[in-house]
Amino acid sequence: MTYAVVYASATGNTKMLAEEIRRARGEEICVYFGTAGAEIPEADLVFAGFWTDKGDCSEELAQFLDSLHGRKVFLFGTAGFGGAEEYFACILERVKGHLASDNEVVGTYMCQGRMPQSVRARYEGMLQQNPEDERMKAMIENFDRALEHPDQEDLERLRLAVEKL
Ligand SMILES: Cc1cc2nc3c(=O)[nH]c(=O)nc-3n(C[C@H](O)[C@H](O)[C@H](O)COP(=O)(O)O)c2cc1C
Repeated sequence: MTYAVVYASATGNTKMLAEEIRRARGEEICVYFGTAGAEIPEADLVFAGFWTDKGDCSEELAQFLDSLHGRKVFLFGTAGFGGAEEYFACILERVKGHLASDNEVVGTYMCQGRMPQSVRARYEGMLQQNPEDERMKAMIENFDRALEHPDQEDLERLRLAVEKL
C-alpha cells in the first residue's frame, strides 16, 4: 500500500510525527514526504499532518485537505494544550470539516507540542499584571509541560496507530 505524508509544521513538532510515520511504514512505498503545496502523486493512503492554529489546522493544510477527493486519509497533529482527549477530539472534528465527504478518515492521532519561549514571556507579563490570575498560572504550567512534547511515548503511540492500519 503506497502512501504520502503531507504536513504543515511551523516549528518542527508535527514534522517529528511525520518522520515517525515514515519510519514506521518504510521508505520504499512512500511516494511523497513533505509540505503541502507541491504536486502530490497518487497514493493509497494519505497521512496529513497539522499544527493547531487557533483551534483548527493552518490555512495551507486546510487548502490541501480541501483538494482531496476519494482518498483514505489519516489525520495527525500537534497542539500546545494537552492532557484532554476531548480537546483533541474537538480540534480533529474541525480539521475533518475541511475534507470532502467522498474521503474516508481511516485514523487520527494528536499529541501535545512545545511552544516558543515568547509565548511563556507573554503569559508571564499577563501574570505580573494580575498575580492572582489562576487561569494564567495554569497556562504557564501547561506551557512547561508542553516543553517535553512530542516525547518518545507520543511517538511510540503514533507508531502503534499507523502500524495497525
Ligand atoms: C499562531 C499560533 C496559534 C496557535 N493556536 C493554538 C491553538 O488554538 N490551540 C493549541 O492547542 N495550540 C495552539 N498553538 C500551539 C501549536 O499548535 C503547537 O505548539 C504545535 O505543536 C506547533 O507545531 P509545529 O512545531 O509543527 O509547528 C498555536 C501556535 C501558534 C504559533
